[in-house]
Amino acid sequence: MIHTHIAEILCVKPKTKKTKKTKTMEEDVKNKKTKKTMKIEGEIVVMKKNLLDFKDTMASLLDRIHELLGRRVSLHLISSLQPDLGIRSFFYSTRLHTYPNEKRGRLGKAAHLEKWVTKIKTSVTAEETAFGVTFDWDESMGPPAAFVIKNHHRSQFYLKSLTLRNFPGGEGGAIHFVCNSWIYPSHRYRCDRVFFSNQAYLPSETPELVKELREQELKNLRGEEKGGELKEWDRVYDYAYYNDLGAPDKGPDSARPVLGGSLEFPYPRRGKTGRKPTKSDPKSESRLALLNLNIYVPRDERFSHVKFSDFLAYALKSVTQVLVPEIASLCDKTINEFDSFEDVFHLYDGSIKLANGHTISKLRDIIPWEMFRELVRNDGERFMKFPLPDVLKQSRSAWRTDEEFAREMLAGLNPVVISRLKDFPPKSNLDSAKYGNQNSSIREEHIEPHMNGTSVQEALEQNKLFILDHHDALMPYLTRINSTNTKTYATRTLLLLQEDGTLKPLAIELSLPHAQGESHGSVSKIFTPSEKGVEGTIWQLAKAYAAVNDSGYHQLISHWYVFELQTHAVIEPFIIASNRQLSVVHPIYKLLHPHFRDTMNINALARHVLINSDGVLERTVFPSRYAMEMSSSIYKSWVFTDQALPKDLLKRGVAVEDPSSDNGVKLLIEDYPFAVDGLEIWSAIKTWVTEYCSFYYKNDRTVQTDTEIQSWWTELRTEGHGDIQHESWWPSMQTRDDLIETCTIIIWIASALHAAVNFGQYPYAGFLPNRPTVSRRFMPEPGTKEYTELEESEEVAFLKTITPQLQTLLGISIIEILSMHSTDEIYLGQRDSPNWTADDEPLEAFKRFGKSLEVIENNIIRRNNDKRLKNRTGPVNIPYTLLYPNTTDYTREGGLTGKGIPNSVSI
Ligand SMILES: [Fe+2]
Repeated sequence: MIHTHIAEILCVKPKTKKTKKTKTMEEDVKNKKTKKTMKIEGEIVVMKKNLLDFKDTMASLLDRIHELLGRRVSLHLISSLQPDLGIRSFFYSTRLHTYPNEKRGRLGKAAHLEKWVTKIKTSVTAEETAFGVTFDWDESMGPPAAFVIKNHHRSQFYLKSLTLRNFPGGEGGAIHFVCNSWIYPSHRYRCDRVFFSNQAYLPSETPELVKELREQELKNLRGEEKGGELKEWDRVYDYAYYNDLGAPDKGPDSARPVLGGSLEFPYPRRGKTGRKPTKSDPKSESRLALLNLNIYVPRDERFSHVKFSDFLAYALKSVTQVLVPEIASLCDKTINEFDSFEDVFHLYDGSIKLANGHTISKLRDIIPWEMFRELVRNDGERFMKFPLPDVLKQSRSAWRTDEEFAREMLAGLNPVVISRLKDFPPKSNLDSAKYGNQNSSIREEHIEPHMNGTSVQEALEQNKLFILDHHDALMPYLTRINSTNTKTYATRTLLLLQEDGTLKPLAIELSLPHAQGESHGSVSKIFTPSEKGVEGTIWQLAKAYAAVNDSGYHQLISHWYVFELQTHAVIEPFIIASNRQLSVVHPIYKLLHPHFRDTMNINALARHVLINSDGVLERTVFPSRYAMEMSSSIYKSWVFTDQALPKDLLKRGVAVEDPSSDNGVKLLIEDYPFAVDGLEIWSAIKTWVTEYCSFYYKNDRTVQTDTEIQSWWTELRTEGHGDIQHESWWPSMQTRDDLIETCTIIIWIASALHAAVNFGQYPYAGFLPNRPTVSRRFMPEPGTKEYTELEESEEVAFLKTITPQLQTLLGISIIEILSMHSTDEIYLGQRDSPNWTADDEPLEAFKRFGKSLEVIENNIIRRNNDKRLKNRTGPVNIPYTLLYPNTTDYTREGGLTGKGIPNSVSI
């Protein structure tokens, strides 16, 4: 028996029965061993498959989890001290080769699941089950370093952990193996599933007998020998271009350019699926049917947890399956208009009866009843009843004030764009040979009347002028964007920092390409604040055009539609490279892994239904079919190292260097909620990462000689972000500081930055007039019908300009789903297992990290209650909690809480 298992761990399945010769040798080896055998008691925790996975017939099998008892699941411990002196044999070129395999630890005897110890309820619906398991172990084999598990049952189960209870020398007699992995029936794998104990090792410090296993496991994950379409049980991490967004077989309108792999459309890589190319374009990958949500991602990257993931998947499915076609057909006919803001408010009191019976029955067909009830939220009679967005909770009109408009640039859902104005008038960086003069035409006389008595020159000198500048990002696309149904300007908004710390909008410039062609420069109009009459209405519209730009930018760039280029898309290559190049026992893998949870899965879902051709993004955000192209063009200027918060703030000129402060910067807008809370969190992450890395890396040389770190970094740069690999800003990864800064940035992006731009979506944009995603017509000119309408009713004019009703419904349905916290969220400063490492010092450092986040939580509450800090709550009275870590919260509340920093980009 031992012989067979050894061979399989090495991924070489013996093809014949054992020869008499090898049997004798095996017995010989056995006899040489010391026979002092001890019993090791263990506990193995498994989870049955998703309770709500209705459509999967295998699920019912796993409900009977006792079927795992008996000999259906076997486990072997692997020695860390004694080499395997057995004989490895395999056929090669028809000859039998045999030789001792001394590179790997000896295997213990097979053990099986015994009694069902207990059911552990860990979340709303996930039930974990613990089984006892007893190992016969030869004492001279020392502590086990790993174990092998084989599943001879007919379906998969989720293996959480194995704990050995009474092992002499283990911490408190316990040795922990944290697994968190789906175990499919053995015939699905070429190699046995191996799990290592929770001890971290740098590659050079790995015990000799573990090295080969460590390397083999990485090879498995790279899937070097795996071709063709990847299957559900595969664990392969590899890179691919974004070539699965279009559907060229449906016709040229549904084709989209391949993003990634070219100078024209550079893009970060996504996870490979291995699906076949399309018929009409060999460079594009074929897509799955929309109803099929089983897009390949490595198995353990798929939501391991229950209810919420299903809810998300079904919700996305229902919205895209039912609402999208509905909207498509209705948009061609008469579009229903909201007649007044009161009309819009009805969305939240359930009095809009939008969907007809046909729509409801279509929905019922595609989603399980339990899900349907949650989505519809009542008896199905009335379809749309949305929760009241925070922005309306205290007042129905505060959102329209200039103060709130400006405040949301510091504390809203996209607080990462505003910058300090250094030159007046604002300049463009667009190529003047191609785009002509694109500089701003705003002059002193436009803004000085609104500047509380300060001159432009004084305000510049005192660092009081700021700008929300979307001009350069938008202008090159406007001709194409405006050839669709949307009518969009490129905008610049100028703001003054006032004595009380709030920002005051001074002017909004709306620009279009020159009618005679782009090279003739831009044609601009400038609007300034006004409260009453037609001017007041026009000013509200100007703010709406600026908000449309900011929504598009937020969705595409800060949040790649509801998916940030700067978070979702740029993180995926780090996940792929980490799994391919860093062993699970590598300390940096252990550090980063929690920050990668669910990201590949949500990104895959997004490619499937949100950012694809004709998907939700194209239907709800103004750049329409050019959306992803624009996102690619912004990626050209993406700088990983500038994502470090202090650097980002310096680059935008909203902070200056200050060696006396902890973060090295001083904010020029002191009451900038995102930046104030963000800097505290940045520092806490950096301290934690520094302490952790310094435990394993005593000097720079340890980083230079860490073979896994070096291959990880090379591959991340040359493959994962291959299109921009030659940029000079890439850290060289030769020093410990490089490693610390890099890991801090990765954790910052995946946790806090994502939370800041994700979970405020529904609170602020759930009421679309506050954050319109589309403008349908240009600013009315005097003498036109539209102008008369505008004179007669501000609300009608406003609502006829911004996102129409059905798109609004689609948009807010999606952002509601995507603004929700999961019921099993793991927040920054929390880990899914207390035994994630065996090293005490890192565990202590992690506790300190949690404590510092708790302090930050209290600081945030205190600041939100400080009436002097006007930007913390603003006219709408929403306290800034988007960067409230929620580390102390284990209630697993979930939903639209508007607070909490999950460890990873999980939605
Ligand atoms: Fe997100």
